[in-house]
Amino acid sequence: MDKFHIVGPTRLAGRVRASGAKNAALPALAATLLTEEPVELHRVPRVRDIRTLCRLLVHLGMSCDEREDGALVLRRDKPIEASADEAPYDLVKTMRASVLVLGPLLARYGHARVSLPGGCAIGVRPIDQHLKGLEALGAEVRLSHGYVETRADRLRGARFRFDMPTVTGTENVLMAAALAEGTTVLENCAREPEVVDLANLLNAMGARISGAGEETIVIDGVRGLGAARHDIIADRIEGGTYLIGAAMTRGDVTLEGASTADLAPLLDKLAEIGATVETGPEGIRVRVDGDLQASDLDTAPHPGFPTDLQAQYMALMTQAHGVATIRETIFENRFQHAPELMRMGADIRVDGNGARVHGPTPLTGAGVMATDLRASACLVLAGVAAEGETVVDRIYHLERGYESMELKLQSLGARVARWVVPAA
Ligand code: EPZ
Repeated sequence: MDKFHIVGPTRLAGRVRASGAKNAALPALAATLLTEEPVELHRVPRVRDIRTLCRLLVHLGMSCDEREDGALVLRRDKPIEASADEAPYDLVKTMRASVLVLGPLLARYGHARVSLPGGCAIGVRPIDQHLKGLEALGAEVRLSHGYVETRADRLRGARFRFDMPTVTGTENVLMAAALAEGTTVLENCAREPEVVDLANLLNAMGARISGAGEETIVIDGVRGLGAARHDIIADRIEGGTYLIGAAMTRGDVTLEGASTADLAPLLDKLAEIGATVETGPEGIRVRVDGDLQASDLDTAPHPGFPTDLQAQYMALMTQAHGVATIRETIFENRFQHAPELMRMGADIRVDGNGARVHGPTPLTGAGVMATDLRASACLVLAGVAAEGETVVDRIYHLERGYESMELKLQSLGARVARWVVPAA
């Protein structure tokens, strides 16, 4: 298991380009199951979760070819009848987002069998809303032997209200409804930019979807979907991570190729705590000259502050003046980075879904353990800001969602190296 070796402190400075969004590319890949025609996806990040989903798509009879210009071209390789309609446990257990093939498989094949994702480091994360949404469209849903089995001759349009805004839940039901008979009205939907990006791809394939990005989405079902070419949006979480790194190290970083609107919840917060935020055709520039002031934060569904930047924000608050209370409202177990930050000298008190960060505290380098994707990004930023050497273990978590992180950090001046640990 490779590790990151980081020597700090370093002031991050320079320009960095945002990769395509993992959480937009995953549903886009799943959506290719809805058509026989080729779909060309550009700006797909080269990260492990994408490779896992491509492996699943190949298992389901698709081909997934990388073109010289970096585009991924997905097309049906084997006739449906000769293809599996099952997402096996071995693949789903490594990445819960595999559940995103459920809606498209059911809509396209009339039946699908997908392994239940099981628990996750940051929370229980059930998929009951996905299933209720598909049932509302007329699907039969059965759980057996750790699998969800679904069946429907043809899905029918319906009105369905999610109990809570769920990102992949909205995406799964949206994809299914695209091929349903009649009109579907989805209420209390997730409004994340990744949901909007998926709707844009589906509409480019011939779907009739309106209202993506709002609480209510309307889908007029069509008989079939066709070929499309689509650019995946920029990764606001990856980009936001580098901007938080800039603030935390009193640096000066310009993020290129990212959307100011998608990053607004973070940029507003950075300005509020005392960072200088400039946006323009050049990109989004964040720099800090003086002291940062602590500020409380609640995570929330978009357009609230994203839970996927909560860990990085906690690391930032260790360098701000005052006490910040951070409330994690989305996942019930997403403070596992706190004890690791405390190993580096941070003063954090966790109580249920709240954490109080007292700052500023000088961080010192240490050996730390990554527990999930965003917690590992938080520890890498802390290592860059800390005095001395930090070794971040289990960076396989990081590789799930950050493309070439050590290279991007090195281009901003960080002294970070990958320690390759040969398998025993
Ligand atoms: C997506 O997960 C993202 N993953 C997550 O990013 C992100 O943290 C999350 O949305 C919230 O923004 C992808 O897009 C692949 P949810 P998702 O369904 O869709 C509860 C990362 O770091 N819920 O919006 O699984 C759920 O337990 C990852 O890149 C139900 O109870 O999250 C949670 O408390 C981590 N029943 C809340 O809703 C359901 O059927 C929101 O979860 C579905 C969700």
